[in-house]
Amino acid sequence: MIVTGSERRISELCSSWRKEGLTVGLVPTMGALHEGHLSLVEIAAASSDRVVVSIFINPTQFGPGEDLEMYPRSIDDDCRAVEALGAFAVFTPDVNTVYPDDFSTEVHVAGVSQGLCGTARPGHFDGVATICTILFGIVKPDLAVFGMKDAQQLAVIRRMVTDLRLEIEIVAAPIVREPDGLAMSSRNKYLSAELREEASLIHGGLFAARQLALTGEKDCSLLRKAFIDHLRKAHMLSVQYAETVDPYTMLKIDKIENRVLLAVAVFAGTTRLIDNILIEPEV
Ligand code: PAJ
Repeated sequence: MIVTGSERRISELCSSWRKEGLTVGLVPTMGALHEGHLSLVEIAAASSDRVVVSIFINPTQFGPGEDLEMYPRSIDDDCRAVEALGAFAVFTPDVNTVYPDDFSTEVHVAGVSQGLCGTARPGHFDGVATICTILFGIVKPDLAVFGMKDAQQLAVIRRMVTDLRLEIEIVAAPIVREPDGLAMSSRNKYLSAELREEASLIHGGLFAARQLALTGEKDCSLLRKAFIDHLRKAHMLSVQYAETVDPYTMLKIDKIENRVLLAVAVFAGTTRLIDNILIEPEV
């Protein structure tokens, strides 16, 4: 497996594969890889001939006071793990080459970037859309895999790829959870044992809301309430948002007619965790 920070090297490698008629799958990450990330690599390996994993802690998607400086890093372990799954290359660019001094472009995806994390983290999705466009431009993948855990990010990337006619298939990967239901996240490392225990209530709350919908409840405000009520058992969790939205547009939904995404952000102490569940109406 090739590990390189050189844009030229990775771009030449990918273009040589394409010339051989091989398809390229990209898995963009910020590293500190866990089973959730690795499931994306497995999906990419099953659906393309050559998998490239990018590892880049993208500063432009972090807001002031967020965890950019302390974001976990484990590049050697990450490379070993993706190599074992059959990745052909890891791209680890340097921040100064990704964003040279005269870099002047920002990709803003209107509409779907608003609300939820877009409100909680102003500018976050501009940073995400910009870095993904750069990575897509360097690697020129046939497909790219994104996790449903970051449901709004997935919706933003889908919208962007459609609008800009990027001809990249965006593949959505299911959320991978810990045995107690907590969605895997690089940020789970920040949690103390007590917070870690309480954090499993997030998943419990999402399932309680879905259960209510399965009994026929169509009023989304009651589903949101079921989630919030479930978290009242916790002492150290505070809900930043719990919204019912369309999974593609991220527009708010008040009554279940079609599929609805219940998307939540919860502070466990100072650590912000996001999660979601898709609720399908009973047929
Ligand atoms: P990062 O947080 O490292 O996540 C990389 C990918 O892994 C994302 O598509 C995310 O949705 C997916 N992922 C994370 N936890 C997951 C889980 N428990 N189950 C399934 N998939 C999971 O998301 C980013 O990085 C960045 O914003 C990035 C797209 C790389 C742009 O900088």
